[in-house]
Amino acid sequence: MIPLCVPNLKGNEMLYVQECIETEWVSSAGKYVNQFEEKTAEFTGSKFAIAVSNGTSALHISLMLSGVRAGDEVIVPALTFIAPINVVRYLFAEPVFMDCDEFYNIDTNKTIEFIKNETTFRDGTTFNNLTGKRITALMPVHVFGNAVDIEPLIDICKERNIKVVEDATESLGTFYNSGNLKNRHTGTIADFGALSYNGNKVITTGGGGMILTNNEEYAKKAKYLTTQAKDDEVRYVHGEVGYNYRLTNIQAALGVAQMEQLEGFLKIKKHNYNYYKEQINQIEGLFIPETPKYADNNNWMIAMQIDSKLYGKDREELMAYLGENKIQTRPVWHLNQLQKPFAHNQTYKIEKAFELAENTLNIPCSTNLTKEEMDCVINTLKK
Ligand SMILES: Cc1ncc(COP(=O)(O)O)c(C=O)c1O
Repeated sequence: MIPLCVPNLKGNEMLYVQECIETEWVSSAGKYVNQFEEKTAEFTGSKFAIAVSNGTSALHISLMLSGVRAGDEVIVPALTFIAPINVVRYLFAEPVFMDCDEFYNIDTNKTIEFIKNETTFRDGTTFNNLTGKRITALMPVHVFGNAVDIEPLIDICKERNIKVVEDATESLGTFYNSGNLKNRHTGTIADFGALSYNGNKVITTGGGGMILTNNEEYAKKAKYLTTQAKDDEVRYVHGEVGYNYRLTNIQAALGVAQMEQLEGFLKIKKHNYNYYKEQINQIEGLFIPETPKYADNNNWMIAMQIDSKLYGKDREELMAYLGENKIQTRPVWHLNQLQKPFAHNQTYKIEKAFELAENTLNIPCSTNLTKEEMDCVINTLKK
């Protein structure tokens, strides 16, 4: 089987993890946790980076520190993995679903239109005209590594006192290459950014995540909340309800070894994307879309679009056929406003997300992928 997206652990991973075991520093303190945070801050340009147990916990704490409270609302994309939507409910708040643009990301124009036309700004707070609830945060997701057209969103959210949490879990390595945000990495633009090191991400720690912020107060509070909110570490005095969300030294050891290889992985990802695009776009009915021109992309996941009439098979048929030929693929996530827990939440003009959810298939994109394997995928698609 050619897998969809699997880890690549051929650097110093074994050496560093072995050191954790030999020194018995295996738990939630140790030099690798600090090193991993430092390396991540340096690479992304974020002032602060706080290592946590996974991307979901990074989003949970970021949203909490954004001031989202029970009964509030958070604007989120319809098309994305469900984790950023679930964390809204962890805080007893409700998601409002937005459509996506051609890059699978939250539609900036429609989101601005929604905020301008469907909400009211009163006494420093934005209220949803339909529900009367406070809208306290917006959570754009840089889907598949494609940078969100984020600057206009940041601007309107500033005007409307809405905090922004960037879900950059899929986009480590993506940075803007033009305009005011030139050279700024995804996850470092808004109030908070979240990274994930789940097994399918550009780099992995098995499971892990990172909170990014440029605000020192937020950073201190994030570290405090993710380490059980200890006011006195010796006497175990806790000033707030805390969380056990800290990354372990073993996981961070993997992370440090993976960071050493990140630039190389990004080169491979880009090369594979370009090769697939060149080859697959010659096949009638199949299409690898462009990535946003305003950013340098990490090309985390390859999204292939199918025109089923031209190609002669629809997405489901093609997925089954590739599976029979030992090629693992995945459809885009079931849209979030259709998921059972969120089926009654508000949606705004969702159109494009339906189209992309129906015609997109993710194809193998691991950094381990050989040319022979890519050719096997391409030739099977041709057949
Ligand atoms: C967009 C998005 N958000 C959040 C997450 C959650 O990250 P984790 O699995 O590390 O909790 C993921 C993927 O895993 C994701 O793809």
